[in-house]
Amino acid sequence: MLDFTKKIAIFGIGGLAKDVFFCLKEIYLKGHYAFDDQVVFVDKLPNKSAFFLNCPLFLEENFDSRAYQVIIAIGNPKIRKQISISLPAATFYPKVIHPSALVNETVILGKGVVILANAIISCDVTVGDFCILDRAAQIGHDCMVADFVHFSPASVLSGNVTINSLVDIGTHAAIKQNLEVERETIIGMGAIVVKSILEKGVYVGNPAKKMK
Ligand SMILES: CC(C)(COP(=O)(O)OP(=O)(O)OC[C@H]1O[C@@H](n2cnc3c(N)ncnc32)[C@H](O)[C@@H]1OP(=O)(O)O)[C@@H](O)C(=O)NCCC(=O)NCCS
Repeated sequence: MLDFTKKIAIFGIGGLAKDVFFCLKEIYLKGHYAFDDQVVFVDKLPNKSAFFLNCPLFLEENFDSRAYQVIIAIGNPKIRKQISISLPAATFYPKVIHPSALVNETVILGKGVVILANAIISCDVTVGDFCILDRAAQIGHDCMVADFVHFSPASVLSGNVTINSLVDIGTHAAIKQNLEVERETIIGMGAIVVKSILEKGVYVGNPAKKMK
């Protein structure tokens, strides 16, 4: 969970990073913790401004993460993995769970997991390191989710689904119960997956088919 005594470094300055910032703000204010001056942003790209959302913005190559708890708020699973590998092994990655999310007491969450507003995780689910559940994403009972998986808004796993590492699931995509999805697969927005995906690629449509 978050360490309210330690400053926060959010990696990324895209839309997801903004959502994570405001999610943190809600958590801090709800718990009556001071939020001002707690957050810095870190990004690879040189930016005209030294600030993002009125918080200091650092270049990734110059950044010393040791004084911070780190949240990698970038949707692309491969970039999340690269950043996590580049940071010191001792880096502390809190789990961030929006107050409106429903996470069953039996759920096991890995480090650096981010769960945004209205997401739901049912019972006996394991979610690996650095997974992101965006707004209203849902994971059904008994699912196994490996590391670095990204659930876009309102995507849904039915029960007992296995998602291998680095899978990226698009907005409003849905996956039928008891299926498995091969690592590094991209499931397009609105796709309806009714058979296991055993070959990695990009899948779209209803029923979902490989497009490349
Ligand atoms: C599937 C996806 C990855 C493909 O991206 P892409 O390779 O850039 O594909 P393009 O936009 O060039 O489209 C290629 C073709 O696939 C079709 N297509 C793209 N996405 C599709 C989708 N989700 N469902 C059905 N067809 C789709 C396009 O209409 C186009 O068809 P055409 O060749 O007949 O014109 C992308 O469209 C997608 O759905 N991404 C997920 C978006 C999302 O959920 N974002 C949330 C972020 S939080």
